[in-house]
Amino acid sequence: MNRLLISRATAFVHKILQEKIQIGNIVVDATMGNGNDTIFLSQAVGSNGKVYAFDIQQKALDITYKRLLEANCNNVVLIRDSHENMGIYIKEKIDAAVFNLGYLPKGDHKVITKPPSTIGAIKSSLEILKTKGILSIVIYYGHEGGAIEKNSVIDFLETLDNKKYSVLKCSYISKEKNPPIIVFIEKII
Ligand SMILES: C[S@@+](CC[C@H](N)C(=O)[O-])C[C@H]1O[C@@H](n2cnc3c(N)ncnc32)[C@H](O)[C@@H]1O
Repeated sequence: MNRLLISRATAFVHKILQEKIQIGNIVVDATMGNGNDTIFLSQAVGSNGKVYAFDIQQKALDITYKRLLEANCNNVVLIRDSHENMGIYIKEKIDAAVFNLGYLPKGDHKVITKPPSTIGAIKSSLEILKTKGILSIVIYYGHEGGAIEKNSVIDFLETLDNKKYSVLKCSYISKEKNPPIIVFIEKII
């Protein structure tokens, strides 16, 4: 009882993903950033698994590449392209995909995820997601343009067929201004 579980959105998301992801799985980090999720996913799927990680900024690839080397992770494909193009690079079904929306922490706060490409990427990942596979989305929206993206993504998720997908939205009551929203989508059939 000495560890915080829900206080950091990403720690909570990792805990849920850890329950689902297995050694040998194929997974996607749709928003690589500083590589925190990429490293988590790489370790969760092990050397027989594979992680496809996307970002549009070379800086994200450079930081993540260095961290992966240091952590001895050699099961990650780093791709500098927009996540909505994942179908060009991924020719197999995936077990999970992780989205962390917003800007690169310690990077250019003007380069942000945007509704058309984010929704395009969510659609692309749902198309290649295996039955019983999972998507997680952490929505940070305190920055300029963030609220528009949050609303567009939630509006889109509300259109998903509830016979095919379980969609869970978790929001903080007790947090600071604009606390992140966490979404999980599980493919039922
Ligand atoms: C909140 S950060 C991700 C944080 C990251 N998961 C980590 O562990 O550090 C969002 C990232 O999404 C990237 N991004 C923005 N638009 C993108 C797009 N269309 N395709 C892929 N990545 C994008 C940004 O460059 C930024 O690095």
